[in-house]
Amino acid sequence: MGETLTLAATDGQATGRGGDPSSPLALRGLTVSYGEKPALFSVDATFPAGAMSAIIGPNGAGKSTLLKASLGLIARVSGQVTVFGQPMEAARDRIAYVPQRASVDWDFPTTVLDVVLMGRYRKLGLFGRVSRAERALATGALARVGMEGFADRQIGQLSGGQQQRVFLARALAQEADLYLLDEPFAGVDAATERAIIDVLKDLKAQGKSVIAVHHDLSTVTAYFDHVFLVNVRAMAEGPVATTFTPAALAETYGGRLAATQLADLALTTG
Ligand SMILES: Nc1ncnc2c1ncn2[C@@H]1O[C@H](COP(=O)(O)OP(=O)(O)OP(=O)(O)O)[C@@H](O)[C@H]1O
Ligand SMILES: [Mg+2]
Repeated sequence: MGETLTLAATDGQATGRGGDPSSPLALRGLTVSYGEKPALFSVDATFPAGAMSAIIGPNGAGKSTLLKASLGLIARVSGQVTVFGQPMEAARDRIAYVPQRASVDWDFPTTVLDVVLMGRYRKLGLFGRVSRAERALATGALARVGMEGFADRQIGQLSGGQQQRVFLARALAQEADLYLLDEPFAGVDAATERAIIDVLKDLKAQGKSVIAVHHDLSTVTAYFDHVFLVNVRAMAEGPVATTFTPAALAETYGGRLAATQLADLALTTG
């Protein structure tokens, strides 16, 4: 990890337009629009390395848009995205992405193992032969999310929570440095939530950076180190302890957060 960081820093200096090499994801003036009204407007953010960061904001705030624009999946109107100091395009291989639990309709036959192996295609090449080692790596990723018994099952025959675990396994198989997850805990039971958070904390312990869109305000303090509050514009950013405050939340959610919820949070955040 240290070695690649040094390389990234050198590259940045060489091209003269690198961002902060110590940040796995830095946004400068990011504006994204689907129509007339921007979904994100002039957003600055600097996520810390080796940490768990939460992106928090109401429905429609632009959270998924932020991840997709960071990945280059949707065009930006203006602004700069750097990954470990490099333009995103140059660092694409270092990012793994788990999309928001999609309305993906898996009506074509694909096994769970194949889905996980898809995480390797960037490294294998589309027509690379799947070696025994690749297969072992994919099986290992399935074991880490507690899905080792499902390798040969059709993906469409899994429950939503089981599919979520498989998509996390696919991200793990990518062996990335930055993990972007869009609501990884949405609609999963307590055991799956526990399993997912264990895997994410494990990644952090390995020095990886995790950025997750997160809705459950009651677990922010337990799960995350850093928060980024957004509602079209960047509202607040920093360590959970100092940034995740009732005042910042009230501003981010406007009238959409009940006073009782804020009072509860005031108790949990001190
Ligand atoms: N493909 C699209 N075409 C047009 N508008 C879109 C598209 N995707 C998102 N939007 C709009 O952009 C805004 C931001 O959407 P986005 O999905 O980023 O929100 P979000 O913060 O992820 O919300 P949620 O918490 O509901 O997942 C919303 O107003 C949404 O309606
Ligand atoms: Mg979303």
